[in-house]
Amino acid sequence: MKVLLTGSAGFIGQHVARVVREAGHDVVGLDALLLQAHGPDATLPEGTVRGDVRVAADLDPLLADVDVVCHQAAMVGNGVDAQDLPDYATHNDLGTAVLLAAMARARVGRLVLASSMVVYGDGRYTCPTHGDVPPATRREDDLAAGRYDPRCPHCDGPIEWHLIGEDTAFAPRTSYAASKVAQEHYADAWCTLEGSRAIALRYHNVYGPGMPADTPYSGVAAIFRSAIARGDAPRVFEDGQQVRDFVHVHDLARANLAAIEAVGDQAPGLEAYNVCSGRRYTIGQMAGRLSQAAGGAEPVLTGDYRAFDVRHVAASPDKARDQLGFTAQVDPDDGIAELATAPLRTR
Ligand code: UD1
Repeated sequence: MKVLLTGSAGFIGQHVARVVREAGHDVVGLDALLLQAHGPDATLPEGTVRGDVRVAADLDPLLADVDVVCHQAAMVGNGVDAQDLPDYATHNDLGTAVLLAAMARARVGRLVLASSMVVYGDGRYTCPTHGDVPPATRREDDLAAGRYDPRCPHCDGPIEWHLIGEDTAFAPRTSYAASKVAQEHYADAWCTLEGSRAIALRYHNVYGPGMPADTPYSGVAAIFRSAIARGDAPRVFEDGQQVRDFVHVHDLARANLAAIEAVGDQAPGLEAYNVCSGRRYTIGQMAGRLSQAAGGAEPVLTGDYRAFDVRHVAASPDKARDQLGFTAQVDPDDGIAELATAPLRTR
């Protein structure tokens, strides 16, 4: 198959390009080399054209004879402040809309979209009295007093978290999350309009070799890894008990390959899949594993907290296993140890 891969110069895009080519497909890459992600001296990987998904004239010539578009290009991270809002809206929302319109013109009816677990916001909880509840937004006085677990929005009582299935409601908390929800909605609308097929892969916490070194837009794995490289201790927020699912970028690339090969066989419409390892890790455990493997300084529990952080987010990998045949292969115990010494991209 011929695959147009947007964001092909990025951390995830480069791994997807390699794995999809190794499987025998023809990959045409497109990347805008955004300054925030790549810095001023970036070079294009082989097989990648410089261009912007927001510009129809950049897309139209590349879409000829394409079977599937794998859309990884995006502005990532939580965002630094409200001044980032227009960047998320233009690169992620508008970029996806322009891409989908171009695909319709070129009669390309298959899309694999990089989505994220951030669409679920705080995740899935039950209250012993009120059943399934969206957790109340954590209160400043609770956080300041070291009470980090969210409460029931109805009775203020303790609630229990659960693994997230793909049917969990959208509850985006950040500008980035809002843009990922929008991308899924645009893709769904495009499927309805065109009778097309889309797979949204909801990535959990991705890590692995070649991930960008610490930037204001980095996730926790890159932040901790960069601290260790500087000889500093990883600084663990809250009580370190917050749960995530760390998925290795090689597995993520395999999930994209599985989706690229499966999307043509599904019924018209959008299907979403969690892409995760299926292994839960606390942030404290992750920091400890990295420090230990690097022989670096012990993590420091700071008790700091951030208003936009969610407490526990881990997902069920069952749907991706059952319908895409995807199961993560890298055990996070091994992958996180490897990350301790793996090269990072310094832009
Ligand atoms: C991360 C990504 C998000 C991505 C999602 C799934 C960022 C900033 N966030 O969300 O874009 O879609 O994974 O792939 O890229 N923490 C510390 N110390 C630090 C920084 C963070 O303890 O120095 C803690 C936070 O309090 C939080 C946890 O680590 O509890 C994870 O933080 P982070 O990686 O920033 O965000 P996610 O919500 O997991």
